[in-house]
Amino acid sequence: MKNSKILVTGGAGYIGSHVVKLLGEAGYDLLILDNLSTGNKDSVLFGELIVGDVADTDLLKKIFTENKISAVMNFAGSIKVPESVENPLKYYLNNTVNTTHLLRACQDYEVTNFIFSSTAAVYGLPEEDLAHEESKLDPINPYGRSKLVTEWELSDLSHAWDKFNYVALRYFNVSGADFDGKIGQAFPEPFHLINLASEAAAGKRDKLSIFGEDYETKDGTCVRDYIHVVDLAQAHVMALEYLLAGNKSTVLNCGYGEGFSVKEVIGVVKKITGVDFPVEVADRRPGDPAILVAKAEKIKKVLGWQPLHHDLEKIVESAYKWEQSETLKKWRANK
Ligand SMILES: NC(=O)c1ccc[n+]([C@@H]2O[C@H](COP(=O)([O-])OP(=O)(O)OC[C@H]3O[C@@H](n4cnc5c(N)ncnc54)[C@H](O)[C@@H]3O)[C@@H](O)[C@H]2O)c1
Repeated sequence: MKNSKILVTGGAGYIGSHVVKLLGEAGYDLLILDNLSTGNKDSVLFGELIVGDVADTDLLKKIFTENKISAVMNFAGSIKVPESVENPLKYYLNNTVNTTHLLRACQDYEVTNFIFSSTAAVYGLPEEDLAHEESKLDPINPYGRSKLVTEWELSDLSHAWDKFNYVALRYFNVSGADFDGKIGQAFPEPFHLINLASEAAAGKRDKLSIFGEDYETKDGTCVRDYIHVVDLAQAHVMALEYLLAGNKSTVLNCGYGEGFSVKEVIGVVKKITGVDFPVEVADRRPGDPAILVAKAEKIKKVLGWQPLHHDLEKIVESAYKWEQSETLKKWRANK
């Protein structure tokens, strides 16, 4: 199948660009479709970048007609939980409707393999300490719901069309940056904790806000499962190999199964950077569950995935190095 192409939507974004790098290094022929709304063209280290929108069905038709595509990996999406509470339709349009366009194209052009970026937000407030793939799905914000509806679509399509198989990967908190220093997260306005804390340590913001310290957790702050983006990217390569080998649809958590509180993460960032930046406690944000940690066994069993960077200090080090890099400065200046 290596003489056909893998279509990667959102491949100029944070996670997509790390996957593109691993797939490119493995010799896959890649087409990247990205509207560059939050992505960066310089982060696409392999393949052909088509600047365009997944909502553009004429463009999809052209891409699927002109190329032999063996699998689609769909990273394109909108990802800020508080924004989804303010502007839910943006999330249903970009995460659900646009993925439907892509699935329609897959059906029309007989592309039978699909990898979907889902999220731990589909669990809402898990009843168990660790959210496992069969846990109740009850998202508490429009972001999570927009992704869950797409998971249902994938499942329905795979039942209606026997040849179609998908892997939905439910990411927990993705963090860190590639160790070569060429790519990393580059949102114009970062919002992930480790990025914000790295900015505070680098003196780019006066202080860091903790959103709520009255949750029922070990120290009152939210607890999350932080997964290194390079381990996550490797899971995608393995998910692609799994589908191309003819295996059946599956849904997999992507996390390490270990939770850290906001205060613990801040402590690690202060330790690694040696900077004691100011921290303030602000109100809770709407849509934030107290604890979200993965049960992470199924992915190891199904894909044979073994994380290599399960180490919060290593995650923080790579994120901080990227935050300080000339490459990121250049990208931000050109935005
Ligand atoms: N970052 C996380 O912690 C996390 C956690 C769970 C799930 N996810 C999911 O992973 C995916 C990638 O997230 P990310 O962190 O890399 O975000 P990102 O914003 O860096 O990447 C998204 C990419 O998609 C592009 N894009 C968005 N809408 C598009 C459209 N309509 N047409 C074409 N391109 C479009 C953007 O320009 C960007 O390059 C998203 O679907 C997100 O919901 C991310």
